[in-house]
Amino acid sequence: MLLVLGGGIAAYKCLELVRRLKEHGIAVRCVPTAAAEKLVSPLALAAVSGEKVYDSLFSLTDEAEMGHIRLSREADLVVVAPATADLLAKMANGLADDLASTLLLATDKPVLAAPAMNPRMWAHPATRRNLERLAADGIAILGPAVGDTACGEVGAGRMVEPAELLAAILARLEPACRPLEGVRALVTSGPTHEPIDPVRFVANRSSGRQGHAIAEALARAGASVTLVSGPVAIPDPPGVRTVRVETAREMAAACEAALPVEVAVCAAAVADWRPAEVEATKIKKEAGAAPPLLQLVENPDILAGLARHPTHRPRLVVGFAAETGALEAEARTKRAKKGCDWILANDVSRGAVFGADRNRILFLSGDGPAEPWPELSKEEVAARLVERIAAALGRRPA
Ligand SMILES: Cc1cc2nc3c(=O)[nH]c(=O)nc-3n(C[C@H](O)[C@H](O)[C@H](O)COP(=O)(O)O)c2cc1C
Repeated sequence: MLLVLGGGIAAYKCLELVRRLKEHGIAVRCVPTAAAEKLVSPLALAAVSGEKVYDSLFSLTDEAEMGHIRLSREADLVVVAPATADLLAKMANGLADDLASTLLLATDKPVLAAPAMNPRMWAHPATRRNLERLAADGIAILGPAVGDTACGEVGAGRMVEPAELLAAILARLEPACRPLEGVRALVTSGPTHEPIDPVRFVANRSSGRQGHAIAEALARAGASVTLVSGPVAIPDPPGVRTVRVETAREMAAACEAALPVEVAVCAAAVADWRPAEVEATKIKKEAGAAPPLLQLVENPDILAGLARHPTHRPRLVVGFAAETGALEAEARTKRAKKGCDWILANDVSRGAVFGADRNRILFLSGDGPAEPWPELSKEEVAARLVERIAAALGRRPA
């Protein structure tokens, strides 16, 4: 979303608005006018949005990085808040003499304006004329509210409160942001711990970060998500039903209980084997005795179990392959063996995947050529996968 801030005292309320939008997973780029920057600092806007603030039409670096036309087109919605009398006049008359007004003239996206001004400015025939023009141009106007204004006069002119603006923005953005509304999804994440005795277990290096990021991204896209997680040291993702398990058998049972789902993403590093016997008491180290021999037995194959489920096979079953050998060949073999639809393969031979921030994926969706993804953060991998899932389910153009 693009937020154009005008030079009204209500600009400070937009810090709260940006914070709330971020909580809803909406990325916000702020474009304050020169007057707005006198009332709210660009640094504060950058800090709450977590994004660069754009404020100059003639910045060589900004224009090279992100031209003003692209800035106005990349957002799904442009919000003007506070919309000053001056900004409304510029918009109504097609003026473009700074970055904010130029973006507003160049955009092809819906525009929502929340006016804020002195009640006499609001009532002035010039403002009335401008509002008529803006309505005819398809600009949505929210407010202003009636009450005390910052200048001490009472009447129509207060900007609507951030909560009301947030609700109006969400109502406009959600259909675009939530392509998976109503879709049920299952994600597995983390390692499994296979006990040897009450204090020891067999495990692997999975941190759960990739699986958790996928569960969170699916939930943000509107899916109703069950995350079945092995033991991890990271928090449960927001908006997701998390079921914590220890062993592969517990994970398999929790997955079965979560069915039916339309999408299953198996990102957990499930232990292939578990100790055949679990000792009821701690195995003691006896002086001079030989170390105990661990006999392993195979664990249930959760990915194959879902992909070949006799009654509730999800429409889309996605697996991960952490490989140390020939990545593409291994991924192709795994896809065929498990019967899943897609494999996201990563090379873990250099030890740079488990617990790391970034991931390099080879995406395999069929018999055609594998698609190498660039090195991305685990959140970016999750977002890209969710886009593909939405397209595969016919929720978004491929
Ligand atoms: C403290 C202060 C508060 C202001 N509040 C408003 C306001 O709420 N609404 C408005 O239309 N103008 C307000 N103004 C006047 C605008 O800042 C001025 O018209 C400016 O040129 C608007 O520029 P902009 O539309 O590019 O942001 C205020 C000015 C000051 C000094």
